[in-house]
Amino acid sequence: MSILIKGGTVVGPTGASPADVLIDGETIVALFAPGQAPEGPEVIDATGKYVIPGAIDAHTHMQMPFGGTQASDTFDTGTKAAAIGGTTTIIDFAIQKYGEVVQDGLAAWHGKTADQCHIDYGFHMILGGVDDDSLKAMDQLVATEGITSFKLFMAYPGVFYSDDGQILRAMQKARDNGAMIMMHAENGPAIDVLVKQALERGETDPKFHGLTRPQELEAEATSRAIWLASVAADCPLYIVHLSASKALEQVRNARDLGRNVFAETCPQYLYLTLEDQLGAPGFEGAKWVCSTPLRSGEESHRADLWQGLRTNDLSVVSTDHCPFCMKDQKEMGIGDFSKIPNGIGSVEHRVDLLYQGVVDGKLSLARWVETIATTPARMFGMYPKKGIIAPGSDADIVLYDPNGRTRISVETHHMNMDYSAWEGWEIDGKVDTVLSRGEVISRNGEYTGRPGRGKYVPRGLSDYLL
Ligand code: URP
Ligand code: ZN
Ligand code: ZN
Ligand code: ZN
Repeated sequence: MSILIKGGTVVGPTGASPADVLIDGETIVALFAPGQAPEGPEVIDATGKYVIPGAIDAHTHMQMPFGGTQASDTFDTGTKAAAIGGTTTIIDFAIQKYGEVVQDGLAAWHGKTADQCHIDYGFHMILGGVDDDSLKAMDQLVATEGITSFKLFMAYPGVFYSDDGQILRAMQKARDNGAMIMMHAENGPAIDVLVKQALERGETDPKFHGLTRPQELEAEATSRAIWLASVAADCPLYIVHLSASKALEQVRNARDLGRNVFAETCPQYLYLTLEDQLGAPGFEGAKWVCSTPLRSGEESHRADLWQGLRTNDLSVVSTDHCPFCMKDQKEMGIGDFSKIPNGIGSVEHRVDLLYQGVVDGKLSLARWVETIATTPARMFGMYPKKGIIAPGSDADIVLYDPNGRTRISVETHHMNMDYSAWEGWEIDGKVDTVLSRGEVISRNGEYTGRPGRGKYVPRGLSDYLL
């Protein structure tokens, strides 16, 4: 089965140019100057469209057990929504809880994904408890399981928290076996003090979730993680869901010294604020409770994050997709913001939301593709199989219509959430056609994929390091 995507503008990390893309089976076999491709294959007309690599969301939590409940998207519903929105690969997180065996956690996540995913997927491993056994397991996961990145938490004491000694040991191990350490950088013990004090003062509304997680505690943890990685002989470090100017400053300083320090941000931090969303009247703000929290719109966070994307101090945009419904889930925190399950769902809309940055003149076309597809593939060892339109790469391709329009709403989204964090937002641009390994799975809003067609992607080491 060969397909020719004809008449479009192919966009990659180095720029955009008119080209026709020939696919054979699941693989891209050639790019041709317009009009030079052989006759014969089935043609998909891409006139007026951008032809971009299928996007990669390197940070999702489908059906994650968390906050006394479970994220509301399953691997089935969440990967279908992702696909419709132009994302053709996710990297989710398998979890080792404290006291459990790492390999058992991984097996459990393979069980959850088997026959469920609509698109290809990989796993990072969350280490809930660093000890001799889990350190040994890190070597095995890197060597034989295709898992080359490990997430640690400086937040959530009693849940996923690791202390500095544990973090250092895991970093030393990663330095030896080539893996990446991903860090949830917030000072959890200090946050817990502020939360307790706020609740004692009767401050129970959702906005206090943000006010008890000040940016200083994100910056301090980011800085500490960077220094610990330095002590671990420059272990590669990737700061997840970076939200604040002062935290970005720590990353920028390290990068200016040539360190293997990287960071991602998420659409919610680029657009939404503590005042306008988290501070919405009554309990409404619970919709936007996530950690790290939304930051003040009166400070320069959003502008600084866009700038960080341009300078590559922020290398990746992921969603941290971790949806909870208002009914029965977010509602667990009525009268106590600390009981609101933490997370926002955006896996369906990241491609569009970041394209809006191109429309607004904040990102170049090439940088759009790089931050949502190419760099996540390189950062996490899937390149050039994923993240680029080139001969030999998987035919994961999105036709993006810059003249289309997207209106985001709970009425039309495919995520299993009873609200949208972006309700009523209108975006210039639209995902038109989505191919995953050569199969058209979504076209003009009509979905033709199926659960179970997505394959596990064993990952190699990062090729993004200095
Ligand atoms: O609020 C968030 N981010 N929930 C998901 C878990 C995490 O820390 O990434
Ligand atoms: Zn986190
Ligand atoms: Zn710099
Ligand atoms: Zn997360």
